[in-house]
Amino acid sequence: YNILVLHGPNLNLLGKREPGVYGAVTLGEITKQLEREAQSLNVSLTCLQSNHEGILIDAIHDAVDCHNGILINPGAYTHTSVALRDAIAGVNLPTVEVHLSNIHRREEFRHHSYIAPVAIGQICGFGADSYRLGLHALVNYLQQNS
Ligand code: DQA
Repeated sequence: YNILVLHGPNLNLLGKREPGVYGAVTLGEITKQLEREAQSLNVSLTCLQSNHEGILIDAIHDAVDCHNGILINPGAYTHTSVALRDAIAGVNLPTVEVHLSNIHRREEFRHHSYIAPVAIGQICGFGADSYRLGLHALVNYLQQNS
C-alpha cells in the first residue's frame, strides 16, 4: 500500500513549539520513526507538511491516483476547516486522524473535530506514538477491507 502522511500548520515547529504540550520530538524524527514502521509493515509513505490549507487540499485530491489511504494530523485545521473535511469526504480514501496531544483534555475549542466524522477513527494523546498507532490501524483496515 501507498499511504499519504499529511501534517498541518505549525507542525514544522515541533521540537521547539510548546514542548510541555507536544514534547521534544521533531517532525524529522517522527518521519524517521514512521518510515521504519512503514518498512516493517511493507507499505510506502509520501510525507508532506504544509502551513497552507489549499496545499493540503490539493495533496488530498492528488492522492486518489496513487494512494490507498491517508494518515493526517490536521493541526489547528482540525477545529476550523470544513474545506479539509470536504476534501477527505470527496476523495473517499480511508483516513485516520492523529494528534500528538489529547485534544479532549485541552481547551474546549479543541474538543470538536471537523475531520473526525469523515475519518475511520481518531488517535490522540500518545505523542509521536499516535502516528505509529494510526499507521497500524490504517494498514489493518486496508488489509481487512480491500
Ligand atoms: C494538534 C492539536 C491541535 O489542537 C493543535 O492546533 C495542533 C496540534 C496535535 O497534534 O496535538 O497544531 O493537532
